[in-house]
Amino acid sequence: MPHSAARPVPAAKGIVPAHVAIIMDGNGRWARQRGLPRLEGHRRGVEAVRTATLAARELGIRILTLYAFSVENWNRPKAEVGGLMGLLEFYLKQELKTFVKDRVRLRTIGRIEELPAGVQKHLRKTIAETAHFTDYTLVLALNYGARTEVVDAARAYAAALAAGQEKLNDRSWATFSRYLGTADLPDPDLIIRTSGETRLSNFLLLQGAYAELVFTPRLWPDFTKADLAAACAEYASRERRFGLTSDQLKSAPTPTP
Ligand code: IPE
Ligand code: IPE
Ligand code: MG
Repeated sequence: MPHSAARPVPAAKGIVPAHVAIIMDGNGRWARQRGLPRLEGHRRGVEAVRTATLAARELGIRILTLYAFSVENWNRPKAEVGGLMGLLEFYLKQELKTFVKDRVRLRTIGRIEELPAGVQKHLRKTIAETAHFTDYTLVLALNYGARTEVVDAARAYAAALAAGQEKLNDRSWATFSRYLGTADLPDPDLIIRTSGETRLSNFLLLQGAYAELVFTPRLWPDFTKADLAAACAEYASRERRFGLTSDQLKSAPTPTP
């Protein structure tokens, strides 16, 4: 649903989403519109990542998850994949100082072990050096797909069952979800997708079960703090019912799924 850029973000406590996840889409189209190579769009996309990370902190969003590379993105032309991995390494190298200065904890979701060694090295270093920060978390979804995540979780859960660490008659989501990459993170409250596409493309399919979705036509390299604020305002205007009725919510205003 499109949102209005004019509406301000309400300052009221509890209305700012604690966890925002963004499907950063439209780098290629941004470049094509300007007659530039796709990689230039990705370069500008990195700038937009910096803008969004800062904006999220300024708006009081404590956890920001960015979908940076999907398991399906390996199927893109080799040169584009190589370019994206190079940019990722460059970004991590450059950004460490800023993460430390701004006290932002970095973490990842996705099959990190399949990324190039250089990227993994910088990820490990940045994650280790920012692990003690508690106020803001940036989660990069890298080589991430919800389906591979659930396969990995199911395998780990099965192994825990076989080892007697879990009980077969425990059928709770709370237990199973501890085996997902997001085990120690709350579910996203708001998922934003840029570029006008209105699909989830294998992103946080389980954790986003009750997320509010906001779709904006803005191409990712053009995404600004105002766009993030507008998405948050749209979020604040929604009624999250988690299966209850509107009347029930009035007597018990903070349900959880
Ligand atoms: C998003 O932009 C970046 C990645 C998926 C890595 P795209 O590269 O998908 O841009 P479009 O969709 O082709 O415009
Ligand atoms: C989703 O965008 C993945 C990322 C933003 C990293 P895509 O551009 O890959 O998604 P589709 O192919 O349009 O569904
Ligand atoms: Mg795309």
